[in-house]
Amino acid sequence: MSVVVIKGARILGGDPVDLVLRDGVIAELGTGLSADGATVVDAAGLVALPGLVDLHTHLREPGREDAETVHTGSRAAALGGYTAVCAMANTSPVADTAGVVEQVYRLGQEAGLVDVQPIGAVTIGLAGERLAELGAMADSAARVRIFSDDGHCVSDPRLMRRALEYVKAFDGVIAQHAEEPRLTEGAQMHEGDVSARLGLTGWPAVAEESIIARDVLLAEHVGARLHVCHVSTAGSVEIIRVAKARGVRVTAEVTPHHLLLTHVKAESYDPVYKVNPPLRTDADVAALREGLRDGTIDIVATDHAPHAAEDKECEWAYARPGMLGLETALPITLEALGEQSIGTPAEPAMWDLIAERMSRAPARIAGLDNHGHDLKVGAPANLTLIDPTARWTVEETGLASLSHNTPYAGMTVPGRIVATFLRGVPTVLDGKVQK
Ligand code: DOR
Ligand code: ZN
Repeated sequence: MSVVVIKGARILGGDPVDLVLRDGVIAELGTGLSADGATVVDAAGLVALPGLVDLHTHLREPGREDAETVHTGSRAAALGGYTAVCAMANTSPVADTAGVVEQVYRLGQEAGLVDVQPIGAVTIGLAGERLAELGAMADSAARVRIFSDDGHCVSDPRLMRRALEYVKAFDGVIAQHAEEPRLTEGAQMHEGDVSARLGLTGWPAVAEESIIARDVLLAEHVGARLHVCHVSTAGSVEIIRVAKARGVRVTAEVTPHHLLLTHVKAESYDPVYKVNPPLRTDADVAALREGLRDGTIDIVATDHAPHAAEDKECEWAYARPGMLGLETALPITLEALGEQSIGTPAEPAMWDLIAERMSRAPARIAGLDNHGHDLKVGAPANLTLIDPTARWTVEETGLASLSHNTPYAGMTVPGRIVATFLRGVPTVLDGKVQK
């Protein structure tokens, strides 16, 4: 078993400390530490965070291994500081049986770079007609606890109610892609002044908000857990705020791209900016940031959505929605939330917020007991080291993902992930993936 000594890391931006990682846990914390035969990692100036946890990743295997595989997506995740990701069910075949979720789980273990927790589909084939084998997936070796038809909305209220009732028995959660399909037929981008000017069919905010409003009421009625995927509008934040005040068991996520980019990007007609839900307005971005700060929105989730060139580098109307996220999530979130606090007395509070929204809370929601722990003696040695002052330029071909659809190409972003450790074993060192 490998032993690692990390020298001088600033846990959550605090004072420098040494960490000894042994047998998969943090064995010692202190100053002047060493260990025989250990790999020594110089972490002077680096910030240590608990390994990040992504609740919303598209890995594309099985079915579209030309866009991403469990292995390549795991590499991207480790490079982004992640130690666990939840793999969405919209693969081909769909992850709607015990067999498929077990296959994804096993591929994740074989890759061995992050813990891959499969999400199961709510309905057979994501068709929105009949419930999938939720119990069989929960009882499988993959121990599925999150179910989602992401990419599609579970729009039938009776089916949504049944799904919530079903998962309540084992404290599972339904993660909803909130989009009333009748309000988004032919939609290409956010419905607003920009869509009117460009002549593109709009995706109105109310298509998202009406489903969230309905679902928090259903979750309240059933007493089950609802998770809202990729919240994108100010109105959605407000509905979730009210629902939480009523005691509804609802959690919510926002993506890095919805925290930073707006619908104005569509003026370029570059499909790299086409995403579902669409990029919204400045006012929405401000409300999402505020919701993330005050806890109305529990977590940042990437919605990492790799697409092959032929599905993305085409006319806007034909391009698939989605963008890469894993390798840029922390820098973009830093840029959106807290970069200006680096080097000030406010820095530790900012890192604590990031650790909560990107590690502890997603681990809790997903029930990933070995992740999202504070970096204390005895805790699982899942952590990442970040250079908070390094700025780097994102290059389309410089990322580990098999696909290249990043909206940040050419952008200089703050915060570089230097190293990541999974159960004490380095998965990334000096910014390079180890497998
Ligand atoms: O933009 C998106 N891409 N939104 C989704 O809901 C699905 C995802 C995908 O699978 O590409
Ligand atoms: Zn979605």
